[in-house]
Amino acid sequence: MASSASLRCSFLALLFLVFSGASGQLSPTFYATTCPSLESVVRDATYQAVLDEQRMGASLLRLHFHDCFVQGCDGSVLLDDAPGFVGEKTAFGNVNSVRGFEVMDTIKTKVEAACPGVVSCADILALAARDSTVKLGGPTWTVPLGRRDSMTASRDLANADLPPPFFNISGLIAGFAKKGFTAREMTALSGAHTVGFAQCQNYRDRIYNETNIDPLFAQGLKTGCASAGHATDANLAPFDGPTELVFDSSYYDNLVNRRGLIHSDQELYNPGGKQSQAMVVSQYRSSSTTFFNEFAAAMVKMGKITPLTGNDGQIRLNCRLVNT
Ligand code: HEM
Ligand SMILES: *[C@@H]1O[C@H](CO)[C@@H](O)[C@H](O)[C@H]1NC(C)=O
Ligand SMILES: *[C@@H]1O[C@H](CO)[C@@H](O)[C@H](O)[C@H]1NC(C)=O
Repeated sequence: MASSASLRCSFLALLFLVFSGASGQLSPTFYATTCPSLESVVRDATYQAVLDEQRMGASLLRLHFHDCFVQGCDGSVLLDDAPGFVGEKTAFGNVNSVRGFEVMDTIKTKVEAACPGVVSCADILALAARDSTVKLGGPTWTVPLGRRDSMTASRDLANADLPPPFFNISGLIAGFAKKGFTAREMTALSGAHTVGFAQCQNYRDRIYNETNIDPLFAQGLKTGCASAGHATDANLAPFDGPTELVFDSSYYDNLVNRRGLIHSDQELYNPGGKQSQAMVVSQYRSSSTTFFNEFAAAMVKMGKITPLTGNDGQIRLNCRLVNT
């Protein structure tokens, strides 16, 4: 009798393991008892960072994307290069481009003060990306939590999995399909380019050599971005001026007006391109509610790309370094 009861007991324990934490599920209440102040600590620090410099909201949103697309949302993008360790910061899509690491350090320090050794850098970044979007006027969403931090990073994977600005529509669709997204979700996520800036080296070809571009728009950008030489390589232009610090749906207006800043943006709306694609752009353009809802849903989905959970990975004490 006793043995059948204990058998039943261990069967239930097994069921519990399968359907709870051990199955790798994230949950919005993951830190409810271990760090109840987490969301307010991250929100206050993120809002302050965006008040200090509005562009930081865009930068943190992008940082989360670059984390999740490379070996999952595991904080790998935050690891510094070190002797014998190659991180992702020197990959093509990141080098001299991705930013927000100091702000992540600041937020992490505050979270560690509130709840030492409990919250992963990957989770902090997921929350900061959401809070940034809200602070810039965009939609909100509930962030599932419980990610753990990687002890590895991969520059090769970053080079392979971060879509470059010269990708055409087929390349963009394939690159996002590889991470489980539909073309429609890719189009929604690209709407993040409603905020932030790009460097001349990423739109030079477009303004000097492309035909699917408003000539006045191209002309206006040429003053800050010379056709040759490297002197102006790093000069910035807004993705969605003059509202580049507001999260709105005018990015899609730009596309219809042939004012996409980088090649990949304009690929989403191209007279010679896919009709289904143009339809999605028109829908987001005419309804910012539709765009906001689908962007939020796609961000939740992005945040779930192959997280480390359970006993995998670790809770880094410093987001830049693997714990020793
Ligand atoms: C669809 C494929 C995408 C491509 C090819 C792409 C490419 C780029 C490039 C080239 C820049 C400018 C970098 C620089 O010049 O330094 C940029 C900036 C940015 N990207 Fe993307 N991106 C894509 C998708 C996304 C997604 C999915 C998000 C977020 C959900 C995102 C968020 C941002 C933001 C917010 C900025 C501005 C960052 C700042 O001003 O600091 N991008 N992207
Ligand atoms: C997109 O780019 C790929 C790779 O450069 C190329 O093979 C393909 O023909 C292009 N597709 C379209 C529709 O332009
Ligand atoms: C424009 O295209 C030509 C031919 O491919 C190339 O040689 C030139 O460097 C391009 N110019 C710019 C500014 O990208």
